[in-house]
Amino acid sequence: MTLQLKIPEKYAVGKGCDADRSLGDLLLRTEMSTKGNTSRLPKEYMGISDEELVRRIGEAKAKLGAKLVILGHHYQRDEIIRWADFRGDSFKLARHAASHPEAEAIVFCGVHFMAETADILAAPHQRVILPNLSAGCSMADMAPTEDVLQCWDDLQAMAGVKGKVIPVTYMNSTAALKAFCGANGGIVCTSSNAAAVVKWAFERGEKVLFFPDQHLGRNTGLKMGYGLDDMLVWDPFQPMGGNSEAAYRKTAFILWNGHCSVHKRFTVDQVNEARKRVPGVKILVHPECVHEVVGIADAVGSTEFIIQTVTDSPPGSAWAVGTEINLVKRLAQEQPDKLIFCLDPVICPCSTMYRVHPAYLAWVLEALVKGNVVNEIKVDGEVARWAKVALERMLATT
Ligand code: 13P
Ligand code: SF4
Repeated sequence: MTLQLKIPEKYAVGKGCDADRSLGDLLLRTEMSTKGNTSRLPKEYMGISDEELVRRIGEAKAKLGAKLVILGHHYQRDEIIRWADFRGDSFKLARHAASHPEAEAIVFCGVHFMAETADILAAPHQRVILPNLSAGCSMADMAPTEDVLQCWDDLQAMAGVKGKVIPVTYMNSTAALKAFCGANGGIVCTSSNAAAVVKWAFERGEKVLFFPDQHLGRNTGLKMGYGLDDMLVWDPFQPMGGNSEAAYRKTAFILWNGHCSVHKRFTVDQVNEARKRVPGVKILVHPECVHEVVGIADAVGSTEFIIQTVTDSPPGSAWAVGTEINLVKRLAQEQPDKLIFCLDPVICPCSTMYRVHPAYLAWVLEALVKGNVVNEIKVDGEVARWAKVALERMLATT
């Protein structure tokens, strides 16, 4: 089979996306002007040249030595990921957070829920820092605690449902939701272990209540052999989640109505188009994509799985990848003997991951050198205790 190793014009990365075109400080400026921004970058960190930032970050990192560990999620931009002592998907980074007790500071280049998890799993003397506190995750925000508690109360009030439901939350959720799962016999999963975790849940109950990503929940159920008619979506904006009590009695999965806005963009049409334009191309997607896309992809998995799969493929392979653009671009740059492009020709970065700009990294590292901890993430008390129970169940399961 002959592959065209030139990316068709349609897939030239970044077409039509401002954030991607400007890897400079476009978002930094926008963000600085955002009212209510809780982690204001000091003025002196604005307008520093890229070269100067590299010098200052390198100098601060060298001074901090083994006292510091920098963790970087695969969706971080190149200018950040180059500083990471460890890169990974959410699962791998959670393990790293728990296995470096020598570090006094863990700087987590990722989003809020990842830093919360690191704090919960880290030793008490360790301080976890998220360079920009406004780096959240819109999917995690889709399951606020009061809506979750309302859903749970409604389900527990139904005869034939009460006592049969095991709550499972995707790592992409607040510490409070993880704690809710821990306190109610439930568990956390990531995109790399969701099937094993859901199996664990079905060994302990008859139904799984899956938060907050309906797509990961649905794709996991389908992969395990369940059908779409074994699943319902709980819509927190509808009374009783939008379904009848009889339907909840029958169903195996109750999927929270959440999604990732980055992964929801990938479509069946894009898969067909890629296959038409690049004969022999393999479609590789993240399980946060809709099940119609996952069902026709050649391979599906976490960010770590995506990287490993492409890396293990022979030179000349072609891959259309359905995940965040910084990861796809880096893969393409690092493996020029393969044809690697994003399934969606106009995709933007995950805008919240993108908030970790090098200027923020310079700020938090230079503060550490002076003995100051800025932008610390701390999860305390009962929330930390029960979230840790749910996370440790996951770590023991997979
Ligand atoms: P991974 O755990 O696969 O890295 O996914 C994290 C994420 O946020 C995907 O959108
Ligand atoms: Fe959240 Fe989606 Fe960004 Fe992942 S890619 S951090 S799920 S918004």
